[in-house]
Amino acid sequence: MRSVSVFSALAAASAVQAGPTQKRQSTFQPITVKGNAFYAGDKRFFIRGVDYQPGASSGNIDPLAEPDVCRPDIEKFQKLGINTIRVYSTDNSKDHSVCMNLLKDAGIYVVLDANNPKYSINRAKPGPSYNPTYLQSVFATIDEFAKYENTMAFFSGNEVIHDEKETTLAARYVKAVTRDMRQYIRTRASRPIPVGYSAADVQQNRMQTAAYFNCGTDDERSDFFAFNDYSWCTSDFVTSGWDKKVEAFKDYGLPIFLSEYGCIKNTRDFGEIGALMSPNMTHVYSGGLMYEYTYEENKFGIVTISDKAQKGPRKELPEFAAFQKAMEKFPAPTDDAGASPTQKAQACPTVDEHWMVSSTLLPAMPEGAKVYLKDGAGKGPGLDGPGSQDAGGGDTADAEPGSGAGGSTGGSTDKSAGVMVKADRVAFVVSGLAMLSTIVGAVLL
Ligand SMILES: *[C@@H]1O[C@H](CO)[C@@H](O)[C@H](O)[C@H]1NC(C)=O
Repeated sequence: MRSVSVFSALAAASAVQAGPTQKRQSTFQPITVKGNAFYAGDKRFFIRGVDYQPGASSGNIDPLAEPDVCRPDIEKFQKLGINTIRVYSTDNSKDHSVCMNLLKDAGIYVVLDANNPKYSINRAKPGPSYNPTYLQSVFATIDEFAKYENTMAFFSGNEVIHDEKETTLAARYVKAVTRDMRQYIRTRASRPIPVGYSAADVQQNRMQTAAYFNCGTDDERSDFFAFNDYSWCTSDFVTSGWDKKVEAFKDYGLPIFLSEYGCIKNTRDFGEIGALMSPNMTHVYSGGLMYEYTYEENKFGIVTISDKAQKGPRKELPEFAAFQKAMEKFPAPTDDAGASPTQKAQACPTVDEHWMVSSTLLPAMPEGAKVYLKDGAGKGPGLDGPGSQDAGGGDTADAEPGSGAGGSTGGSTDKSAGVMVKADRVAFVVSGLAMLSTIVGAVLL
């Protein structure tokens, strides 16, 4: 997130209203992962969406818990023709059924960050912040949203790794959270929901970060990779350097999408959607999320909201019409558009001048968090709880590879589809026979 704003935090304590339940589309399909792409049923799914956090992170408002906030925006989303929103901060102590069902009726999926400002990994002190209190909040968010069919995916972290090379040391903890979230979903949710990391727009460690989240045993690897990219400044595929990124990612082996895009240096025409939906990119990328819907202090948005509680009228800025027009002009492909049916793992990155992680081992799930796998997370702390970073019980020892392989509801992706897929993938992993037996062992559980 591009944050500069310093708004005072608002205590938006209005009660959740019970809205009328509208007619459901009987054809609504949850999103799954196959090969390097997303699917809604048998049809390939491209993310054509916006990042949505009215009031920015400092506003500390969960727009999906407030029907008076989400309702007017969902009308705008329909006008724009989008199919996905990303929400950075949600309150896991609140009910989200009204907004989630309105979104579903509008054919809109939701990608959610599982962390929020008070409950997150501290990139400066990652070990202690990976603790049971944090995981309880993360798991409570999963419990609240897994029940909605239009929850498309969860982010296990947002821009934790940054341009200072010391921040790469936090990668092990975010990857452990990814592993734990995937195990929690396999164990407790009624359907697979993909989990992945959203990387900052940082050139010098982007590829290492991508490889790192897709290396190691199946339980440790993400279901997709997403990154932020502000390099297309009303230009074209080659000038922006996007051609080189597609080339670099072409054998990545998992779905990829842009979790934020949209440079504001030049007047925006959103021509990048043309590239994202073209054969130049669709064999590797699955669309992206335009940053961002509401106009905040950092000046990216396409609508303004004057009410501090984020209710009331929305005013469309000129970029709203420009985005709407680009969405119309560049529809999603209707076929598989070059998707690969098989997945691949990457080799873990090695230490260099930009990447400091020397071990492929991940920290073990903290002892105090294991009870949640068995009993569920219970009530979430919400956005205004005491916070998790210094709560204690973290700083665990390293786990054996494969430690997160338990759980039986079918896995988040075709990673657990069977021995064939797993055996196939082992060829890409360096650790050889020991790992093969770990993986095959996990299948037999
Ligand atoms: C596809 O790539 C070519 C260069 O290889 C470029 O000229 C063209 O504009 C690109 N198409 C789109 C839609 O960006």
